[in-house]
Amino acid sequence: MIPQQVIARKRDGEPLSSGELTGFLEAYLEGRVGDDQMAAFLMAVHFNGMSPGELDALVEVMLHSGEVIEPGGGWPGPRVDKHSTGGVGDKVSLALAPLAAEMGMVVPMMSGRGLGHTGGTLDKLESIPGFRTRIPLEEFDRVLRSTGCAMIGQTAEIAPLDRRLYALRDVTATVPSIPLITASIMSKKLAEGLDALVLDVKVGRGAFMARDEDARALARSMTAVGSARGIAVTALLTAMDRPLGRAIGNALEVREAVACLAGGGPDALRGLCIELAAEMALAGKLVASVREGRRRAEEALAGGGPVERFARLAAAQGGRLRPDRDGYGLPKAPCSETVVSDRDGWVTAVDPLALGYGVIALGGGRRRQDDAIDPTVGFELAVEVGSCISRGDALAVVHAGSWPDLAVGAGVVREAVTIGAEADADPLPIVLERMRSANGGGGPPR
Ligand code: URA
Repeated sequence: MIPQQVIARKRDGEPLSSGELTGFLEAYLEGRVGDDQMAAFLMAVHFNGMSPGELDALVEVMLHSGEVIEPGGGWPGPRVDKHSTGGVGDKVSLALAPLAAEMGMVVPMMSGRGLGHTGGTLDKLESIPGFRTRIPLEEFDRVLRSTGCAMIGQTAEIAPLDRRLYALRDVTATVPSIPLITASIMSKKLAEGLDALVLDVKVGRGAFMARDEDARALARSMTAVGSARGIAVTALLTAMDRPLGRAIGNALEVREAVACLAGGGPDALRGLCIELAAEMALAGKLVASVREGRRRAEEALAGGGPVERFARLAAAQGGRLRPDRDGYGLPKAPCSETVVSDRDGWVTAVDPLALGYGVIALGGGRRRQDDAIDPTVGFELAVEVGSCISRGDALAVVHAGSWPDLAVGAGVVREAVTIGAEADADPLPIVLERMRSANGGGGPPR
């Protein structure tokens, strides 16, 4: 195998045999293909896509580059996870894992860090003082057995090829590619030993797939890979034409997720958590219909168990989360300021991309792989698309690490929030579409 020949074939849109692609990927794992050559290959895939056979070979090598957990018996419920393709203000995983566990599922959640302009569940969890997202697989298993859910980062054992490619894609502008996202997400999820998986495929300006048809194609690609490998996959296409909820920034998002579990929080966040929990329960054959799943999720939230379970999960992983205290024991930024509207009107758009990059500008996300991040900074929106506002009304609160950064944040808010003279906004519905793999859920209730 001559690496540049494989790269040239992909560049020119010629098909690669499974053997050729496997050889190239294995040579990368063994250090015989460099990061420079892999970056060129990824860019060629970004432009030319992959055939189903090539995608299958990529998933296969990624999955078996590390350990694959065998589900085994002895679990009190179906092993079900959810994965999002990435968004701004998307703190769903934090609330959903304890909610689904409260409903009787076992949720072995493996999440990622911020990618591009989007936030990452691991960075959010690490804003809880003491929370450890890097724990060995045996400890992960112990937390899962005691709490019904556990939340960690991809360990060195799970799909290490994805870890390396993910980092390379982040800095080479090769994230928004359907086969690369499919292989990245599905190799990790297939390694978790799941019975079922629910995918939250984001659509809109703040998503990696801004156009409906691309998001739909991504959802189809991931459900097909899952179904071919024997797990039930459901994909929901959900709105990312605006941030999800009001908080954007790591600790601020944890606070909003806890508020949601405690019965408050924005309707959009609560609604999406309930939809995803219902789909997880259906895919895991715990309920016979989405409607029954919704009812079970609402009952669980009303009972107060999920918030208490989240605190237990945090404690089991070393975190000190105090839902009974003001601010939940989370760190706070030293400076904050309310940005107000300079006119009367209607909020016609709230740009997730500007706010996502805004968090990075405030130090809450990474410019380079090894950057430390400030968990406290970010934005709390006071308006949403469709709000009617007057001059002097709050648009958002900026939380920053310094006074000069407050001015940066205020500029971001002014850029992100569009105010028009008329109420002519047409936001996407929170759930645009549902897709189920051929073997996806809905079987007899267990
Ligand atoms: N999330 C992942 O895990 N991988 C991607 O490629 C994109 C989002």
